[in-house]
Amino acid sequence: MKYAFPDNFWWGSASSALQTEGTREGETTWDYWFAREPNRFHNGVGPQHTSTFYQHWKTDIQLLKQLNHNSFRTSISWARLIPDGIGEVNPDAVDFYNQVIDELNEQDITPFITLFHFDMPMAMQEIGGWENRDVVDAYARYAQICFELFGDRVLHWFTFNEPIVPVEGGYLYDFHYPNVVDFRRAATVAYHTVLAHAKAVQAYRAGHYAGEIGIVLNLTPSYPRSQNPADVKAAHVADLMFNRSFLDPVLRGEYPADLVALLKSYDQLPACKPEDGFLIAEGKIDLLGINYYQPRRVKCRDSAVNPQAPFMPEWFFDSYEMPGRKMNPYRGWEIYEPGIYDILVNLRDNYGNPRCFISENGMGVENEQRFIENGQINDQYRIEFISEHLAWLHKGISEGCNCLGYHMWTFIDNWSWCNAYKNRYGFIQLDLKTQKRTIKKSGEWFAATALNNSFEKE
Ligand code: BG6
Repeated sequence: MKYAFPDNFWWGSASSALQTEGTREGETTWDYWFAREPNRFHNGVGPQHTSTFYQHWKTDIQLLKQLNHNSFRTSISWARLIPDGIGEVNPDAVDFYNQVIDELNEQDITPFITLFHFDMPMAMQEIGGWENRDVVDAYARYAQICFELFGDRVLHWFTFNEPIVPVEGGYLYDFHYPNVVDFRRAATVAYHTVLAHAKAVQAYRAGHYAGEIGIVLNLTPSYPRSQNPADVKAAHVADLMFNRSFLDPVLRGEYPADLVALLKSYDQLPACKPEDGFLIAEGKIDLLGINYYQPRRVKCRDSAVNPQAPFMPEWFFDSYEMPGRKMNPYRGWEIYEPGIYDILVNLRDNYGNPRCFISENGMGVENEQRFIENGQINDQYRIEFISEHLAWLHKGISEGCNCLGYHMWTFIDNWSWCNAYKNRYGFIQLDLKTQKRTIKKSGEWFAATALNNSFEKE
């Protein structure tokens, strides 16, 4: 069968500043944490020398061209642009991002720019990070500076990438700095992130720029083990906490009432100001980026909650390991292709069918050198992964979902936070010693698919 996509469909990939640039300037929480606890990072590899995009941006953009990208998302590093988060702008950073943006446009690759991809300037973390409303204001200023500097040539902006991840990693599950486990503080961080997002949207609207502004959310459809009301309720709470805590404010301009009621009943609500509601209502977006990697399967709890234990989302559900689920064993994530369709249908039916696109989807695999044939990684598994997700995406579009594109994570193997270079995601293999870039089979497959705006599959 031939799967053809609408005209002007966005084909591309995503990356982020800290994971690719290398040549660190402006300290982030990652630099600080790595200097103190290198053992937290796979093989002790930190963020200093990531995939050298800072030096090789021009030839890397040539490679994007070879992959027939018509669009590409990366982020601006707040700490590179404004090293202390709030003060002087670094002119070298302005030059660098100008060059990258201009070259992308020159090559007819539309730049999609994220303002915050997990990389908090350390100076901002030192005053409390997202727990401090002053950081919300500093972020709004940073966003405004980016719009003023680059807004004439960047027409697709994203305030945050996966804002729930720093909440989970930094304040619930101990996989990002500052390694706190405290739900109320996590809720405050999440709430202030939404306020920061809304302030950036407000600034963008006030500037009357020509483009559009959105956010990138990692949506994990929550599937109950069964239709038993207890399992269904467990899935509903997981959905409220991990998806709707950001989805509802950015698309509906308000929080789900049952999420607010639930947190209130456990005394976990962040401190709110009366004017916040108006601000959040102004944070409604033009375009939603959807990162989809895995579903969330849950069941009702098998055991009673220990009332002395820290309050956690898991007070309301247990994870459910569905027998026979397909796994990516390297990352430990389930692969469930219909999830991409379920997300789109949910947006169509419950959120007014917003303009959206798949902003990340991907498969991290360990030790890909074992698949080298004639000097090239033959990653047939990745081609299958992509084509099966695309088939479900295609079904969604044919049923009226407003999905405008598909970006893969990622173009060149890059540094994956605490997993460093353990799992490789790229269309292009990176030799860490020589920095040599070699297109994988999946890169060739993607280039052909983008060129034809279609692919064939049985
Ligand atoms: C997304 C992020 O969560 O998934 C990326 O936007 C990340 O920054 C990617 O690298 C893959 O996940 P991981 O944890 O394997 O790097």
